[in-house]
Amino acid sequence: MAQSNTFKIGLILPMTGQQATTGRQIEAAAKLYMAQNGDMIGGKKVELIIKDDTSIPDVTKRLAQELVVNDKVNVLAGMGITPSALATAAIATQSKTPLVVMAAATSSITEASPYVVRTSFTLPQASVALADWAPKNGIKKVVTLVSDYGPGIDAEKFFKERMLFNGGQITESLRVPLRNPDFAPFLQKVRDLKPDALFVFVPSGAGAAVMKQFLERGMDKAGIKLIGTGDVTDDDQLNDMGDGALGVVTSHHYSAAHPSPLNKKFVDAFQKANKGLRPNFMAVGGYDGMRVIYEALKVTKGNGGGDALLAAMKGQIFESPRGPMFIDAQTRDVVQNIYLRKVERKDGQLYNIEFDVIKDVKDPGKAR
Ligand code: DHB
Repeated sequence: MAQSNTFKIGLILPMTGQQATTGRQIEAAAKLYMAQNGDMIGGKKVELIIKDDTSIPDVTKRLAQELVVNDKVNVLAGMGITPSALATAAIATQSKTPLVVMAAATSSITEASPYVVRTSFTLPQASVALADWAPKNGIKKVVTLVSDYGPGIDAEKFFKERMLFNGGQITESLRVPLRNPDFAPFLQKVRDLKPDALFVFVPSGAGAAVMKQFLERGMDKAGIKLIGTGDVTDDDQLNDMGDGALGVVTSHHYSAAHPSPLNKKFVDAFQKANKGLRPNFMAVGGYDGMRVIYEALKVTKGNGGGDALLAAMKGQIFESPRGPMFIDAQTRDVVQNIYLRKVERKDGQLYNIEFDVIKDVKDPGKAR
């Protein structure tokens, strides 16, 4: 088949290493989207090329270069962590290739290249909602504990600012390394400080370790609540966290328990295709990212190169398994509902059950 009849998506994901669950979730979601929607779109045959960057940004960059130069991909996608997205941004700009960020969630990523379009979320988006909820629910004094890199810094900053605005207090801000984190010394410190709550951001895959050590240290029994963005009660791990996780309140854009018919269909199909694996927020970022790419290809039929494709991605509005979703044409960032959720047992399994919603939240990081 002639080159011009194929449309190539270069999907770079951490398939091995510390962020491997992110890669596994997004790969499964992308394949599900293609199985449901076919691979002949706008007269082109869609080809998915998956590369493992092991979540090392230098590797992400090299793979992106190879995909653009050798494979001549039409779109770059994936980006399991912020450093990977930032390492790829310049390549997207130079080659005029749209870069669909399906996972990474530091606010500034969309500003690193005019070719970035994001289908995940931002930490400011998720954090502010929780800082509005907490002081109204008896949580005045909080210690923050975040992974020491882009999304953690965003979470810490935006949670703190809004807490202070709402009359709350942040008594200490702790940062733990992204690579091989040991939470024990930090949690010991939190225990001594005895805040009303500990606010946590850790990336997808690290939540179970935080939960385990939090409970082992008897922090809950000492009257310290665990709160955070939904990364900590990640659907990929939540069901294995045990009853100690019950009652934990988080804010996020996606729960596998989101009660819409579209989400039920998505979760059922995902589990059926993946031996019962429950989709998490990374899966939904990948699924919606494929949707954004497919719809742009339908509109352009592959004509006009990266710029035409990018233009057709901007402003897309649709129903996602997460709820309504919009790609802001100005910022190329996702506008979406943020839900407050509490871990509950339902049908014998642990889920993040949504109990409140803040509608159509733009990234608060963009206003400054
Ligand atoms: C990022 C990675 C994650 O796994 C997550 O849950 C949130 C943000 C990031 O690196 O941007």
